[in-house]
Amino acid sequence: MEISDFQRLILEWGRHHRRDMPWRNTRDPYKILVSEVMLQQTQVSRVLPKYEEFLREFPTLEALAAASQSSLLRIWQGLGYWNRALRLREAARVIVNELDSEFPRDPATLMQLPGVGPYTAGAVACFAFGCAEPFLDTNIRRVYLYFFFPGEDDVPDSRIMEVARRAVWTDDPREWGYALFDYGAIELRDRAINRRSRHYSRQPAFEGSFRSFRTQALRHVLAQESTSLSRADLKDFLTQRLATGDHSYTPQDVLDALIDDGLLKISPDDRVFI
Ligand code: ADE
Repeated sequence: MEISDFQRLILEWGRHHRRDMPWRNTRDPYKILVSEVMLQQTQVSRVLPKYEEFLREFPTLEALAAASQSSLLRIWQGLGYWNRALRLREAARVIVNELDSEFPRDPATLMQLPGVGPYTAGAVACFAFGCAEPFLDTNIRRVYLYFFFPGEDDVPDSRIMEVARRAVWTDDPREWGYALFDYGAIELRDRAINRRSRHYSRQPAFEGSFRSFRTQALRHVLAQESTSLSRADLKDFLTQRLATGDHSYTPQDVLDALIDDGLLKISPDDRVFI
């Protein structure tokens, strides 16, 4: 397909169908970073209420940099992949403390922030600063695979990026990005297309996974009034939860993983706290 025909098709479709989302009505790089980190592994419908709640609680980079761990994780409940919350706060701290609150503008510098990979860096640079460098997520990748690599398997991102670089509509990279997202998400909902990508990976099931037990432990600690409890009580709780299902995880495995990631801490008197 010719690049100019492709651009026309996507832009014309976007004019009629592109969705409205709160993070598309701002150019505030902080708000856009928050939305993109939330959207990394979580569906739009679950992100919508959390995005608003998060920004009410932490309206600025400075507010997030100063956030207590319990207030941060309390809000993150329901989004999962909890390490993202800590990295997001760490990114805010780097910008506030090391960059004098000057938000990085280009993808290469953004990528040096904690928790910011090529996709998130590209998306923030585009949606906050109008940068015309292309980036790929699952939806956008699907669009390029469909139009430019029909019938091909094992297509590496390097080949897709080569097309994407030529295709960016430089008059308005933001609208271009939104239209691509939505075309991929709405018109090409058939997930099978992405299996033709060399970088395809399915999100593993949540039910019964190690991740699900981490979440249950964190939720249990957050539900305590003091956001803490004795290590023995948390292990009892986990023993009960782990009794179901086919796995070999122990309560200590779950606790160790959460402590290693900095999501939980242990006090000298053997209490677990957020
Ligand atoms: N609009 C801006 N970023 C988005 C994303 N990551 N997913 C869906 N829509 C978006």
